[in-house]
Amino acid sequence: MAKKRLFTGIKPTASALHLANYFGALKPFLSMYGEYESFLMLADLHALTTVRNGEELRRNSIEIVRDYLATGFDPAQAVLFKQSGIPEHAELTWVFDCLVSVPFLMMAHAYKDKTAKGEEANAGLFNYPMLMAADILLYDTEVVPVGEDQRQHVEYAREAAGKFNRAYGETFKEPRERILEEVAVIPGTDGRKMSKSYCNTIPLFGHKDEIASIVMSIVTDSSGERPAIVYAIHKLFRTEEELNPLYESNKGNYKALKEALVEDIEKFIAPMREHRKNISDEEVKKVLRDGGEKAKAIASAKMADVRRKIGVSL
Ligand code: ADP
Ligand code: TRP
Repeated sequence: MAKKRLFTGIKPTASALHLANYFGALKPFLSMYGEYESFLMLADLHALTTVRNGEELRRNSIEIVRDYLATGFDPAQAVLFKQSGIPEHAELTWVFDCLVSVPFLMMAHAYKDKTAKGEEANAGLFNYPMLMAADILLYDTEVVPVGEDQRQHVEYAREAAGKFNRAYGETFKEPRERILEEVAVIPGTDGRKMSKSYCNTIPLFGHKDEIASIVMSIVTDSSGERPAIVYAIHKLFRTEEELNPLYESNKGNYKALKEALVEDIEKFIAPMREHRKNISDEEVKKVLRDGGEKAKAIASAKMADVRRKIGVSL
């Protein structure tokens, strides 16, 4: 039986993943993409809605692909490519922009949240859902694995497909979102949700010393009970059955428990960090180039059909 087609995107807006990115997003994705005919796109055009520095975007793009390769993403099992390398994405966005209304786009969460804060949204942010619709629909995608925050964007893609199909005849498949199972929110060093915006993260590829000093700074209460934040992070690396005796025999000894956590993080990260070191920029670029060729063949065939239907190819 033919595999279903899966498509997802990652925005190169940060240069270093943290532990919660790995356990909350990357790991769930890595456990499923092999079952599908998968496409993973570096959404660099989407990143332009926030990143205003060419060098930074270039660095983020390379680093995030290196992170994926280092954590076990296998380019032989999926097409990994860069959005900006395939102009059909921007071209189809325009076609969709001409089919949907301004009030429809004004209902998008990202735009609404931005303007609700009294901030000015750029037109790229406003059109963001149609670029994402183009990404997904160009490849006759069936399944879109995303976090809950992206659910609405997949609905917008379905709407765009329906609008086009009604106007010009059956062309696009309506995709379904697959909401990646929420890993319980992973706390950062201060107990709030681990997030780069709170500066409370533990880097995925950090060095042992760096990780040790961050772990030592994890907030603990002084009641002598189990240090909740340390334990919650520790659970990512060991089962509760393994952890319980350790935490029982070290009640109140926060230093020993933190040291045990550092050792477990290190055991987990060291092989990936080693692998990461050996992935050159050239290798990253080659993976993107090879993926780009495969994606291009599909996107250009689809777009040729669109151009014919809308009447711009004579
Ligand atoms: P940040 O909050 O650091 O900006 P992102 O929003 O870029 O992180 O996160 C990307 C993905 O990583 C999210 O969609 C989510 O799946 C996962 N993630 C991030 N932070 C956490 C967390 N604290 N707990 C669980 N998953 C998380
Ligand atoms: N908007 C997505 C995010 O911020 C990234 C993305 C771009 C994407 N194009 C996509 C995700 C297509 C899934 C499908 O996470």
